[in-house]
Amino acid sequence: MPYQVIYSSASTTPLQQEDLEDILNQARSNNARSGITGALAYVDGCFLQVLEGQAEAVQALMARIATDLRHETLTVLQAGEIAAPAFPDWQMACVSATAAQVAVWAGLSARTELPETLEALRRDREKTMQVSKSILAMLMGEAAPDEPRG
Ligand SMILES: Cc1cc2nc3c(=O)[nH]c(=O)nc-3n(C[C@H](O)[C@H](O)[C@H](O)COP(=O)(O)O)c2cc1C
Repeated sequence: MPYQVIYSSASTTPLQQEDLEDILNQARSNNARSGITGALAYVDGCFLQVLEGQAEAVQALMARIATDLRHETLTVLQAGEIAAPAFPDWQMACVSATAAQVAVWAGLSARTELPETLEALRRDREKTMQVSKSILAMLMGEAAPDEPRG
């Protein structure tokens, strides 16, 4: 069974486009080798990342990511086995979203502050799955049908 971890963290510095590209390039080449797929959402200076693959590979990656000084206050929101990967076509997809969008995806009021939304996700696996599905919907809406996906 594939294994999935969804965590949040806060960027330690205001992220520039090229900082994000560095993370994505590193992620995509490593993940291709270790059979990991997923998505990274950048929201108001925070990261929300979905990682999925074989349990050992995902856990080894989490251990590496946890020591990365580019972010802090890493909190695992949900982790566990899944029937099938949610992002099988993405070595690491990336979306940018607002706190209001993430709140609405989670079924909360658009005015909910991000820390409160993240706490709700930690408590409620179903809400977290809804957010993951919304990230996927955003990706599907944006990617041209025959364009290679990142
Ligand atoms: C928010 C964030 C997400 C990351 N996601 C991944 C990832 O999906 N895969 C990965 O290999 N590295 C990821 N990294 C980078 C790792 O923390 C680490 O720097 C990298 O895996 C080391 O790779 P290297 O041994 O090839 O230098 C991420 C870093 C940050 C800050």
